Amino acid sequence: MAIFSSSTRQVPAAVAVPRHVAVIMDGNGRWAKKRLLPRVAGHVKGVELVREMVRACLERGIGHLTLFAFSSENWRRPPEEVTLLMQLFVKALEQEVDKLARNGVRLRVIGDLARFDPRLRELIQRGEEKTAGNDRLALTIAANYGGRWDILQAANSLAKAAPERLGAWTEADLEPHLAMSFAPEPDLFIRTGGEERISNFLLWQLAYTELYFTPTLWPDFTTAEFDKAIASFQQRERRFGRTSEQLTEKAASGEAAAR
Ligand code: IPE
Ligand code: IPE
Ligand code: MG
Repeated sequence: MAIFSSSTRQVPAAVAVPRHVAVIMDGNGRWAKKRLLPRVAGHVKGVELVREMVRACLERGIGHLTLFAFSSENWRRPPEEVTLLMQLFVKALEQEVDKLARNGVRLRVIGDLARFDPRLRELIQRGEEKTAGNDRLALTIAANYGGRWDILQAANSLAKAAPERLGAWTEADLEPHLAMSFAPEPDLFIRTGGEERISNFLLWQLAYTELYFTPTLWPDFTTAEFDKAIASFQQRERRFGRTSEQLTEKAASGEAAAR
């Protein structure tokens, strides 16, 4: 069932621990270059950090973790690197799915999967099926994903589903067709590697997400670094369009009611 928690239609409940963390895992290439290693060594190390991140989310009770693994623009990279990234993806699925299944993690892959080879698509499908009954942590890998692709595919899907209301569609009509309609919107977005941009990640879903950028390269992004990002999130005042005074009044009346 879809969970609708649209930040533009309803103010989401305040939370100390983010319900959903979305990450652009950037900086693998530079990490390898600094060590005079081939770029792929950075990607290999990057996969290890994914494991740590999953563990950290399980320990902290974070319900949703979404990782940008390959963007729709990453096909522009040298073909050798693209091939190696695909091989790594296959290997990670072969090696990790059973462990995810045992640990209560539900795996999903979002993106335009049609461009992947059949072996990879089959592994994705099997991984999703094998973990479909789990609900401790929803782990979503964005692969050949682009925020614009997502909005467009949702619009096309809605056009098919409700052609009679063309011209009168609402946000609520579109949301169930988006790739992440099963999840609340991200509370916290993290980008490692120093760049301060979205790079066509979750454009619709990040409307009110707290953004955290760190120069730390992804292979160096330890659990301690993750905790810093969460601590930064906990300092933010999330107003969702309201004034700071409104939030203070709300907190005061909440306390009065609790007494
Ligand atoms: C992110 O690291 C991983 C992918 C895009 C697959 P990069 O490969 O972009 O690393 P840098 O940015 O070149 O350091
Ligand atoms: C974004 O990283 C995509 C992933 C991490 C998968 P890039 O390294 O490809 O982003 P740009 O090109 O620097 O914006
Ligand atoms: Mg990069």
